[in-house]
Amino acid sequence: MTTSPVIELDAVGMTYRSRKETNTVLDGCTLTVGRGEFVSIVGHSGGGKTTLLRIISGLIHPTEGSVRVNGQHVDQSLSDMSMVFQKPVLLPWRDNLQNVLLPMEFRGRVTDTMRAYAMELLEMTGLKDTARRHPYELSGGMQQRVAICRALVSHPDIMLMDEPFGALDAMTRDSMNLELQRIWSETGRSILFVTHSIPEAVFLSDRVLVIGDKPGRVVADITVDLPRPRTKAHRYTPEFYEYEQQISELIGAKESIA
Ligand SMILES: Nc1ncnc2c1ncn2[C@@H]1O[C@H](COP(=O)(O)OP(=O)(O)OP(=O)(O)O)[C@@H](O)[C@H]1O
Ligand SMILES: [Mg+2]
Repeated sequence: MTTSPVIELDAVGMTYRSRKETNTVLDGCTLTVGRGEFVSIVGHSGGGKTTLLRIISGLIHPTEGSVRVNGQHVDQSLSDMSMVFQKPVLLPWRDNLQNVLLPMEFRGRVTDTMRAYAMELLEMTGLKDTARRHPYELSGGMQQRVAICRALVSHPDIMLMDEPFGALDAMTRDSMNLELQRIWSETGRSILFVTHSIPEAVFLSDRVLVIGDKPGRVVADITVDLPRPRTKAHRYTPEFYEYEQQISELIGAKESIA
C-alpha cells in the first residue's frame, strides 16, 4: 500500500451488554482499507460484520481497541462517509432525484451544482429518465441504484456497503456488480463491502477479509490478483475458481486458522 490507510482498526472489540447477558461479538479485530481500495468482508451470519460497519461509521462505539478514519479517531458519525444497506430505504413520497438529494438537504441548502451532480449520477447509473418518477415505479435493482447515487451525492471519501445486492435476483446482481465496479473505478472511492456471496467478493475486490465468528475477528486477508476491469468471463476462469475455493475453505475452517 503506497498511501496511508483510510480506515484502520486496531484490536477492536465489541461486547453488547444487557441486564440478562453479555455478548462479545468482536474481539481483537484488526484491519485496514487503503485509499481507493475495494475491500470485501465475508463471514458467517451473526459474525459481527454489520456491527463492524456501524463501528467504523461512528454509529456505535467499540468497547475495546481503536478506530481511525483518515488518520483521525472516530468518535462521532462522520460526514465524509456514506452507507448503503441491504434494502434501498427510499422515501416513497419523494421522486428519485429528491431521494438522491436527501443527504444534501440534511446538510442545508441544495444548490444547482448539487442538483446537476445528482442528475449526473442518475445518468451514470442509467436512471436519467426516471429522475422525476417515484421509487415504486422502479424495479428492485433500479431502486438500489438510486440508493447508491444517494450514497455518492455527498462526494464521500469512503462508502460502507452492507450486503447491498442481497435482495436482488442473480441476473440483476451480476449487472449491479459490473455497475459498481465501473462507479468505483470512475469515482476513485474507497469501498468496504459486506457480502454473503463469495463470487461477488472475488469479482469486485482488491482484497477479501474473512471474518471468523464467536467472537468476530479477521482470520484471513486475501489479495485478489485478477486483471481489471473484470468481466463476466473472468468468473469462469480457473484463477477465479481458485480464489472462490480458497475463501470458501477459510470460512469453513475458520476456527483452525485463527
Ligand atoms: N444492538 C445489539 N444489541 C445486542 N446484540 C446485538 C446488537 N446488534 C447485533 N447484536 C448481536 O451481535 C451479533 C452480530 O450481529 P451482526 O448484525 O453484526 O452480524 P452480521 O455478521 O452482520 O450477520 P448477518 O450476516 O446475518 O447480517 C449477533 O449475535 C447479534 O445478535
Ligand atoms: Mg449484517
